[in-house]
Amino acid sequence: MKVALPLDKHEWHPSMLAGQIVLVSTLDASGRPNVAPKSWVTMVAFAGPILAFGCNVTHATYANVIATNEFVINVLSESLAARAWALSDRHGDQRLHDSGLTPVPASVVAAPLIDECPAHLECELDDVKLYGEEVFVFGRVVAASIDVRCTQGSALDQYGRLAPVFFLEEGTYGGLGPVRHVGR
Ligand SMILES: Cc1cc2nc3c(=O)[nH]c(=O)nc-3n(C[C@H](O)[C@H](O)[C@H](O)COP(=O)(O)O)c2cc1C
Repeated sequence: MKVALPLDKHEWHPSMLAGQIVLVSTLDASGRPNVAPKSWVTMVAFAGPILAFGCNVTHATYANVIATNEFVINVLSESLAARAWALSDRHGDQRLHDSGLTPVPASVVAAPLIDECPAHLECELDDVKLYGEEVFVFGRVVAASIDVRCTQGSALDQYGRLAPVFFLEEGTYGGLGPVRHVGR
């Protein structure tokens, strides 16, 4: 038996589409760095490659992307999950300062990489699609890098080291669980 859910997404428990938690790093128009957790993130196209993430238009991340045309998607590991929530309790310069996270230079874009994250996708702004107060930001990946340890061993080893983490609903996250081959 299936039960109908209301069309208010806030009322969806459990959340049906888990989103991978990433840290989006940007620079503001004056060159000051910002980092924010986001989980409405997805690949869009092999050609590019193109990815996209959802953001509120009032967020500093969106203002910075519009000001600089760049951003970096930093993949969060499960061991850093609690820090993602701690980040969004603070704002501006204070956030990065208090986070203990380390901004380091990227290879192509001016926005920094977050060193503690195991993988990074440097992006140039491709497009935006507005839905009222929310916006989907599309980026063209211009450089990608990953901790070499995540590239070694079996798929189980590699995903185990990357340890992606997923936002389920407010205050709730989950890891990847066992990695299996389909066997055909
Ligand atoms: C785990 C997690 C996932 C989040 N995902 C999103 C998201 O996908 N989109 C969004 O706009 N805000 C998301 N937020 C909320 C923002 O990170 C938060 O409002 C933050 O203060 C925005 O920072 P900014 O103004 O520097 O961009 C998330 C917060 C957490 C803790």
